[in-house]
Amino acid sequence: MSGMTAKDPVKASARDNLPPSDRLSVVSICLDKETWATLKLFADSAPLVRLDRHLGEYRVDDHESALDWMGRPAPDVCLLDFDKDRRSAALVAERIHSDAPETSIFAVSSQSQPDLIIQAMRSGCSEYLVKPLDSEQLLNAVARVGGRRKEKKEQTKAQLLAFIGAKGGCGVTTLVTQLGALLSKSHSRKTLIVDLHHDFGDAALYLGLTKYRYHSYELVENTDRLDTELLQSFVLHHSTGLDLIPAPQGTEPARPLMAGALVQTFEFLRLRYDFILVDLPPGLNDEYLELIRYCDQINIVAVAEVSALRNVVRQTDYFTRKEIPSDRLRVVLNRHQSRGIITEAQIEKVIGQKLFWKVPNQYVHILKSISGGDPLSQISNSEVAKNLLEWAGNIGKKPTGEEKKGRGMLRLWSR
Ligand SMILES: Nc1ncnc2c1ncn2[C@@H]1O[C@H](COP(=O)(O)OP(=O)(O)OP(=O)(O)O)[C@@H](O)[C@H]1O
Ligand SMILES: [Mg+2]
Repeated sequence: MSGMTAKDPVKASARDNLPPSDRLSVVSICLDKETWATLKLFADSAPLVRLDRHLGEYRVDDHESALDWMGRPAPDVCLLDFDKDRRSAALVAERIHSDAPETSIFAVSSQSQPDLIIQAMRSGCSEYLVKPLDSEQLLNAVARVGGRRKEKKEQTKAQLLAFIGAKGGCGVTTLVTQLGALLSKSHSRKTLIVDLHHDFGDAALYLGLTKYRYHSYELVENTDRLDTELLQSFVLHHSTGLDLIPAPQGTEPARPLMAGALVQTFEFLRLRYDFILVDLPPGLNDEYLELIRYCDQINIVAVAEVSALRNVVRQTDYFTRKEIPSDRLRVVLNRHQSRGIITEAQIEKVIGQKLFWKVPNQYVHILKSISGGDPLSQISNSEVAKNLLEWAGNIGKKPTGEEKKGRGMLRLWSR
């Protein structure tokens, strides 16, 4: 079995660049220097993996969750060296297997006796890699994890897009309802809006669906007994084909959500839609963090005002501190005016990133569609409608046959 050297990079087909969020995240534990260097070379020459952290000791404290030291969300892969102390390594593997079952554990060792391999597998390892690490062997193991992740993604179909205002009134509900209706009607994508405002949510009002009994918080509270039939009692149907789970009516104070219940609910919803758009209240709120972490995209909706732009910086800093990958954060400028007082260049300088999308300012059009409860009523005849149609097209366009085929190793990860 040959070791990997700089002259022996992994297959050319594996060298296609993947966006950082599509790479498999890797944590390593107690790797010896040589194996660590090999892993680093592998990550550099085949950007299929992202090295998140290296831990120099086996952590077996009963009071800690494996996620406390591996990081959240759980990594895709953990490379665990068994040579320093086999017993502790096996305990660590068991702990990871129980606390983070979605993490694939690769045992790494210089010993290859069958009983030791069996022991490692019994403690939860899915691969056993013998030192010195072999490029082909590592690539194949990583590819298997990538393949499984792809299969899982195909099962969990919906793309989850969160929308949050840089401050109140930036246009979140307007954009969510218009995009939702366009995805449903113009792109035939099964789309659901979930309004997660504690109170005073407007999505139902903007869609003219004002008569309802149950709301999003009750859905989350009932997550443990959720089935297709129960879900139907929460879902409102709009004439465009768009579905909505509305916010509470705003007649009672907010109720705190149980930890884990939000993600559990969205895991269920994801299997039933192509797109889920989440209308979130503005502000920094730890209650939604677990959901935000779970979303594919977080759209921060701002307007060209000093306070909103300042808040974009605060929000992006906060999300970054909470380890939400920056490539999932997008800043959308609503009510854009090409001759506005604050220029686009100034905005991008202040927020420290490019604007992802700009939606023109067209109050009359927006007002008409909101008051009519039909986001698509003005579709053909306004600049803002064309703009949103283009945005929905970018999100909702079904991939062509060629795009589906993908290239080389990229196929393992692409949706
Ligand atoms: N592109 C636009 N052009 C002109 N007016 C707009 C545009 N988008 C939204 N508006 C207007 O801005 C106001 C606020 O919009 P909206 O209710 O969607 O904001 P929001 O961010 O959801 O507010 P909240 O924080 O209360 O949930 C509405 O009166 C709406 O008509
Ligand atoms: Mg709103």
